[in-house]
Amino acid sequence: MKTATRAAVGVLGAIIAVTGVTACGANDAGDDDAPRIALLLPESKTTRYETFDKPIFEDKVKELCDECVVDYFNADQSSSKQQQQAESALTNGADVLVFDPVDGEAAAGAVRSAQESDIPVVAYDRFMEGADYYLSFDNEQVGVLQGEALLEATGGTGNILMLNGSPTDPNAAQFKSGAHSVLDGSGLTIVAEYDNPDWSPDNAQQFTSSQLSNTPADQIAGVLAANDGQAGGVIAALRSANVAELPPVTGQDAELAAIQRIVAGQQYMTVYKSIKIEAEKAAELAVALVQGDEVTDTEDFEGVPSYIFDPVIVTQDNVADTVVADGFHSVEDICTDEYADACSAIGLS
Ligand code: GAL
Repeated sequence: MKTATRAAVGVLGAIIAVTGVTACGANDAGDDDAPRIALLLPESKTTRYETFDKPIFEDKVKELCDECVVDYFNADQSSSKQQQQAESALTNGADVLVFDPVDGEAAAGAVRSAQESDIPVVAYDRFMEGADYYLSFDNEQVGVLQGEALLEATGGTGNILMLNGSPTDPNAAQFKSGAHSVLDGSGLTIVAEYDNPDWSPDNAQQFTSSQLSNTPADQIAGVLAANDGQAGGVIAALRSANVAELPPVTGQDAELAAIQRIVAGQQYMTVYKSIKIEAEKAAELAVALVQGDEVTDTEDFEGVPSYIFDPVIVTQDNVADTVVADGFHSVEDICTDEYADACSAIGLS
């Protein structure tokens, strides 16, 4: 597919090897001819990436292609760092980039330079203009599930806070628009809305604390938090303000800590997206691309051949039938001593 390119980058690759600059966590098989797959993930504050996406992807690649090498990079929410990582991946001889961008627009340059060298780019979880393939969930639907859950849990009236994801993350815009499609014109009033620049729990906590001086906690009927990391920050802020009864708070990602909060009645819901399905499909696709196999089972998403998966709502009622049944979290992991009573109260054993 790109013998010429590999030869061309060979000299740079040698310089990098001599100067000791290598991919973070790169698994270098020491075989120059090994097919190389670069996996670029955006951040590490959200637990999914290092705990699930990376190992599931790597294991599936290994299973399907023993000689394939995965070069792994995490950008720690820095778009410029991610641009450099994409360049390193190409210099290292990547045959395909599986790319989850910190900033969908800023990544366009990296997509182009990969493609100029005939290296296909798979937009992983977040959309990138011009990518060769895209895999994700129905992200509008994620926002719809959050909005509908909040309507139901609040009884449909009162004030809510709304915490969205990073404005550079194309998914965040989709989650936000899905949630607005339910909330706008409903009986709920969004008294303050925040686009969290790095999705961080810290920013979410700070924003929520600062809002409590404008809207007293007992006048907040609910909080739309776009993911579990932020839900954790929101709940920490409410608890440190000694709120008597926590309002319903939404989330996304089915993080272990969020499932425990749900079991304990501190968080109302989360959205489970099977990372196993997403990461394994991405691995299959990447291996097919490096082996030159034809890929025919895609659907169209904005002109890009895609795989779009369905998100699932999780509340106290279906923890057992969703994340536990799927093997995403075990009852042992959820029901630690601290949560044992809460677990038995909802029959989780
Ligand atoms: C989104 C992703 C979510 C969540 C968030 C924060 O793009 O789909 O699962 O992890 O980023 O990183």
